[in-house]
Amino acid sequence: MLDIINLSGIKLIGKRDKIMQYDVEYIRRQFPALGVKVNGFPAAYFDGPGGTQVPQRVIDSMVDYLVNCNANAGGAFLTSCKSDKTINEARAALADFLGAEPDEIAFGHNTTTMMFQLALALGREQGSRNEILITEIDHEANRGPWLALEERGFIIREARFDPDTCTLDMADFKSKLNDKTLVATFNYASNGVGTVSDVKEMVRLSHKVGAITVIDAVHFALHGPIDVKELDTDFLLCSAYKFFGPHIGVFYGRREQFEKLPAYRLRVQYDKIPYKIETGTLNHEGIAGAGEAVEFIADIGSRFYFPGNPPADRRSRVVAGMKAMESYEQPLAQKMIDELTSIERVNIYGPPKDHPRTSTVSFTIDGISADKVATALGEKGLFVWDGHFYAACLVEKLGLDSIGGLVRVGLSPYNTEGEIDRLLAEVKKIAT
Ligand SMILES: Cc1ncc(COP(=O)(O)O)c(C=O)c1O
Repeated sequence: MLDIINLSGIKLIGKRDKIMQYDVEYIRRQFPALGVKVNGFPAAYFDGPGGTQVPQRVIDSMVDYLVNCNANAGGAFLTSCKSDKTINEARAALADFLGAEPDEIAFGHNTTTMMFQLALALGREQGSRNEILITEIDHEANRGPWLALEERGFIIREARFDPDTCTLDMADFKSKLNDKTLVATFNYASNGVGTVSDVKEMVRLSHKVGAITVIDAVHFALHGPIDVKELDTDFLLCSAYKFFGPHIGVFYGRREQFEKLPAYRLRVQYDKIPYKIETGTLNHEGIAGAGEAVEFIADIGSRFYFPGNPPADRRSRVVAGMKAMESYEQPLAQKMIDELTSIERVNIYGPPKDHPRTSTVSFTIDGISADKVATALGEKGLFVWDGHFYAACLVEKLGLDSIGGLVRVGLSPYNTEGEIDRLLAEVKKIAT
């Protein structure tokens, strides 16, 4: 049962049996980048969907790796052993982040690159299944790698994005699944308009026809707890730089599917999970930072969800941390939507009010291109993205590609109501 409570002037949605105290200043103190100024204005980072800022503890962990553990993997000497230990610990942390087992977690360059690795590997075994189902709501990172399989004779089907509701057309998705579908791949949440899709149901429908499922959780990962076992997905990918970490990709493969995956690898490379997909030397300091980013989230859970009495198991603290952050951001996003709606010439693009969404809000202003809006806001220290953010198909379907796409405002747990008021005031000025 959810309840709205009000503590320290901030509306929170929390479990009725839990009192959460969200202290945004506690969060902000940990992010050195929040001290940046532009033309005398403090930077307000609304670019979280493009990548969040990084807390000091993540920076420290990366520096510590480079100072004390810097070596290649698998050596017999001190720094190499320390390096292996750091990577193993990070695997365990990311496993807790996703609800997986540590050896189901692999690291790589970024989601796009790992999606190509996955698509090229799965596409090696065509058999009688020669169809792949992708969607129009997805980032190109979850379209291009699968479209590349057309040259191997695969038929790529696309589930429709409904521009009127900014949601995925579930009936269309269902109708395009059949006993020839090898893979169904879709995002958890749209980085273009913030729509959260019913991925659990999509996995269920896909498995019903025997298809392998892949979830692009890059946008969602900042906005709620992920439980790969509950979702029952075969694969799920995300990127640590979207949740307070450095620029690396994180790959989950369900043991049975991951073990079968015919990944392209070097002859001298382990053929075991998770190493089989980890080509070459990894970004070790990035992996150290990603593990620490999970600790940062777990700390938020401890403080705000279990004050004084945090559970020992990290997964519970991580889930609580994710819930605490989103409970803080959702009402702020709603305020932003309500106030933007009241500004003349502003058009908001996102799902209907009762549909699950992230705290990412996209809009246009009639007659002013998105890049002009973003530039004007940027000069006031308000950092927003403009364009299609690689959710190019969705922006085309909205008919906005020829006029420069969307302005995207993404909330992160360090944004404040005051920053949102500054943003709204500037948008009003630009629009009138
Ligand atoms: C939903 C979504 N999928 C995939 C990607 C690509 O991630 P990466 O840059 O790690 O390849 C992004 C990046 O913005 C994204 O938002």
